[in-house]
Amino acid sequence: MKRIKVAVLPGDGIGPEIVRQAIKVMDAAAERFGLEITYKEALIGGAAIDETGVPFPDETKEIVLSSDAVLLGAVGGPKWDNLEFSIRPERALLGLRKLLNTFANLRPAKLYDELIDASSLKPEIIKGVDIMVVRELNSGIYFGIPKGIFVDGDERVGINTLRYKEHEVERIARVAFEVARKRGKKVTSVDKANVLEATVLWREVVERVHKEYEDVELNHMYVDNAAMQIIRWPKQFDVIVTTNMFGDILSDACAMLTGSLGMLPSASIGGKIGLYEPIHGSAPDIAGQNIANPIATINSAAMMFTYSFDMPEVEEAIDKAVRSVLAKGYRTKDIYSEGCKLVSTEEMGDLIAEEVKIAK
Ligand code: NAI
Ligand code: MG
Repeated sequence: MKRIKVAVLPGDGIGPEIVRQAIKVMDAAAERFGLEITYKEALIGGAAIDETGVPFPDETKEIVLSSDAVLLGAVGGPKWDNLEFSIRPERALLGLRKLLNTFANLRPAKLYDELIDASSLKPEIIKGVDIMVVRELNSGIYFGIPKGIFVDGDERVGINTLRYKEHEVERIARVAFEVARKRGKKVTSVDKANVLEATVLWREVVERVHKEYEDVELNHMYVDNAAMQIIRWPKQFDVIVTTNMFGDILSDACAMLTGSLGMLPSASIGGKIGLYEPIHGSAPDIAGQNIANPIATINSAAMMFTYSFDMPEVEEAIDKAVRSVLAKGYRTKDIYSEGCKLVSTEEMGDLIAEEVKIAK
């Protein structure tokens, strides 16, 4: 029997409610696939500040480092908004990502046929869209030095630096090709190699790594064209690999092709321990009401099985279960439309967990 240790960090707002549903679904998957999952819960964000005075306590770090993977809810909320920046809940996320050295951020944008009306694009353009954005997360213009606002003669100058070392490009390219191997076997590398030298190097290194992955198709696209193509004909993409900033922007565009915030998961990988979390925040406006959509978190837990435990069949089973529950017309409030059956956070979790146990 495969044994898995998962660190669970519920966090704030809707975090605890949605994480609880993901655990139900993981337990159902464990039952069906013969896994033994042990969970260790730890404090993070505002919940940790209230208890210990800091957003990312040492005890949490220890629990995280002794796990195989981390499931995170969300952090933050108005209660902690007046704290100074260095001890705000959101600081914990930076600390966590740094601790885990997760340099690759995977954000899938997958359309559920049942929610096709939620998209702002025409059904024929959007139907069947399934894109995985692989965004470099630890380097690039968000980190490059020099950065800051300086005095230059009689005015000020704002500076950020786009900087990529070869090994940083190499490792993210490798992640993208590996991911593509498990999917549609196509990678589009997005750069601005007609203008930015840093991305000339990027393109060169991606080409080089590609030689080890000849079963995967590779093409290159300038970022401005990519932005246009994502809206024009999103089905041409399988895996998109790109720099930190381009990935930040393009992954939001891809995500919104498919509709609701409450549906979208993410995985951050590259280190020994993967981090899985919904892309939305702690939704303080609906916290504690049992109305939040747990599917983004459930889908994040599903990604854990593929990317941390090499069990894509489990992700597939969870995905099928989600689709089946949606097909039966069950909806949380955020994705509700007329004629559907409105369910609570808890009920949605129960329905999906039940379906995981039986769906073939
Ligand atoms: P948010 O994503 O929490 O909420 C935006 C809107 O979407 C709200 O109306 C919310 O009710 C709704 N929403 C979000 N997730 C939902 C779900 N699962 N089901 C149904 N509706 C959902 O973003 P917002 O309001 O900007 O931030 C709230 C707090 O969360 C802030 O303190 C912010 O710093 C923090 N935050 C934390 C993140 C994280 O932990 N990774 C990411 C983004 C924000
Ligand atoms: Mg962003």
